[in-house]
Amino acid sequence: MTDLRQTFQDADQGHVFRFWNDLSPASQSKLMDQAGQVDLELVGLHRSLLAPGETNVEAPQFHPPELFPAQPEGEQIPHAAKAHARGVQLLDDGKVGFVLVAGGQGSRLGFDGPKGMYPVGPVTDASLFAWHAARLKAAAIRHGSKVHWYVMTSASNDGATREYFAEQGHFGLPEDQVHFFCQAMVPALDLQGRILLAAKDEIFLAPNGHGGTLHALAQSGLLRHAQDQGIETLSYFQVDNPLARPACPLFLGLHSLAGAGMSSKVVAKTDPNEKVGVLGTANGQLGCIEYSDLPAESRDARDADGDLVFRAGNIAVHALQTEFVDQLTRDGLDLPWHLARKDMQVIGDSGTLESTAGVKFETFIFDALAKSPASVTLEVERRLEFSPVKNAQGSDSPASCRLHMTELFAGWLQATGLPEAQRDTQGLVLLEVDPCFAEDEVEFQKRLPAQAAKQPKGTLYK
Ligand code: UD1
Repeated sequence: MTDLRQTFQDADQGHVFRFWNDLSPASQSKLMDQAGQVDLELVGLHRSLLAPGETNVEAPQFHPPELFPAQPEGEQIPHAAKAHARGVQLLDDGKVGFVLVAGGQGSRLGFDGPKGMYPVGPVTDASLFAWHAARLKAAAIRHGSKVHWYVMTSASNDGATREYFAEQGHFGLPEDQVHFFCQAMVPALDLQGRILLAAKDEIFLAPNGHGGTLHALAQSGLLRHAQDQGIETLSYFQVDNPLARPACPLFLGLHSLAGAGMSSKVVAKTDPNEKVGVLGTANGQLGCIEYSDLPAESRDARDADGDLVFRAGNIAVHALQTEFVDQLTRDGLDLPWHLARKDMQVIGDSGTLESTAGVKFETFIFDALAKSPASVTLEVERRLEFSPVKNAQGSDSPASCRLHMTELFAGWLQATGLPEAQRDTQGLVLLEVDPCFAEDEVEFQKRLPAQAAKQPKGTLYK
């Protein structure tokens, strides 16, 4: 105990123990355990990042990435067909594993629980997790292969997530094919670089960002597990987007044909002020430029067709080779740290809860793009693949997501020539199509059972 306190003292973090004499033996032991797991060297590095940087560093020149378009033309058409076939083969052979990141705290949504439990199904109220599970079940049925699903949580939602999956019978997926792993947490600091306390006996910890996925996959042994199952490619997606299509043959095939380590899907950004990151290169390296980092003139620049030059909106869907992740993590993963300044509820010097300006530290998965020898950026249609749930109201909210889902399905129904589905009192079409039934308009048309034609008000296609 004395040694540990001394180490903290030497790192100028001795204040972590300032309430020691007020604590019960159980609380003292809790704090010691937690402190024993803190990487003080990393905290020192984080502290150094708080120092004001050089002001006259030249801002990098950003360039848009090369895109594989949503509507291929010329030579791209046969290439897309070849890629689709390759993707189907990879899925048939069980060479694709699925990684869902669900470790974030979802504070903007203001939902008390893991964000994946949020109900979004327009008819069934199915949760985000249930939607993703249905897509993977659909992939298993279509391709006749095992799907291994790796779900990343964090200490703040791991227990609740596992319990929810167990309660829901893993949504009908074989339990031994659903694997959980937990990302690491790092201490939040005040603006002077001092570790903050969430309680007198508790260090304020925050998830280390979705860049932590790669390290956590390797550390948990699940990367090895995936490789042992013959999985060559990991399909990565975020919990907040129920339209994500993780088993997309075209994307997986393009990635494979290019011999890429990591690839991305993007949607066309049409409003320069939309708060999505855009893919682009800086100093010759591919990455994602966050909305706030893109200079106004680049953000607003348009090409001869009137499209935004920086329009490759990041939807956080990636394909990563297991071999690439293995190489990246083998000798310690080196991704840049990003700082998020926020007001936090912490224990102040007086021993009471107070709001203070603090800093959280995160790494981002898309920074690994710069390390990939080759990469594909596939543009997909927004209405088919992207409607995230991030805010409680307005854009990117549960309401906007339900609306987009029902409009999409209503379009499929309309194309069949059947009468429109019922609307609720707010005018929302009451229609939901289970991914196991159909994942796109063409499949919907093929699968529509004859009896549905006689029941235009039957609104759940399952
Ligand atoms: C993110 C992207 C943005 C992209 C947008 C698309 C970042 C920094 N930006 O924005 O470029 O256009 O998604 O929807 O990511 N997560 C973890 N652990 C963490 C942090 C996050 O698992 O430590 C997960 C969350 O559960 C969520 C996802 O990562 O599924 C996104 O995190 P969030 O911080 O909400 O990113 P956005 O700001 O929405």
